[in-house]
Amino acid sequence: MQRIVVLTGAGISQESGLQTFRGEDGLWNHERISDICTPEGFARDPLRVDRFYNGLRAELADVQPNAAHRALAHMEECAATGTWDGEILIVTQNIDDLHERAGSRNVVHMHGELMRVRCTSCGATPAWHGDCLPQTPCPHCHRPTLRPDVVWFGEIPYHMARIEAALQACDLFVAIGTSGVVYPAAGFVQLARTHADTMEFNMERSAGTDLFDQTVLGPATKTVPRWVREITGS
Ligand code: APR
Repeated sequence: MQRIVVLTGAGISQESGLQTFRGEDGLWNHERISDICTPEGFARDPLRVDRFYNGLRAELADVQPNAAHRALAHMEECAATGTWDGEILIVTQNIDDLHERAGSRNVVHMHGELMRVRCTSCGATPAWHGDCLPQTPCPHCHRPTLRPDVVWFGEIPYHMARIEAALQACDLFVAIGTSGVVYPAAGFVQLARTHADTMEFNMERSAGTDLFDQTVLGPATKTVPRWVREITGS
């Protein structure tokens, strides 16, 4: 049985038509991280933050999963049907839902989900319906304490215990489409490489490239399906 943990970043969704964060036309060239992706930014100007995420939601509604998302979903399907003796956990930094729309179920969103909101009073994470402002009442506890269900800079990513356990137990760690500059995800390769093989798929060398056993350069829609075919035989 082969246990694979796949870490995905914005690069896997780029060919679906979603912007990455740090590329030439990256999101952070147009917006200041401190205005949008911090609790202070939301407290200062919630309308602006709401507008930013509503823009991303509109873009997400217009795009589809690509061949790389679908290949990873196929891998999970092969594991479920027993045609491949392995298991795959996708740990994604992405807040889009393209892995799920491609058919993957074993997905951990460490930076939260665009299509959910979170109540800071009761902890509920209901599906997004319209604006998410501090005065919007939570559908569960009715307190006006909703915010986007997105992990902002300075906050602790979700599911870290589960992710670290999976990294400790894996035989192969694969990073796809991530620049390797945002921690803790950027440190996963260090954790895994003590006992597991490590592979990176990226358009160009990343900040972590030297830490991986193997780096495959190129567009994820070409490189990832090829690799999945090699692993699963289908
Ligand atoms: N195929 C493969 N890799 C690609 C492709 C592609 N088609 N397009 C871009 N890439 C690579 C880029 O070369 C880059 O190294 O994907 C990487 C994307 O890097 P970032 O934009 O920094 O995205 P990511 O690593 O996911 O960012 C991490 O930063 O602000 C945040 O919270 C946000 O989760 C995000 C975190």
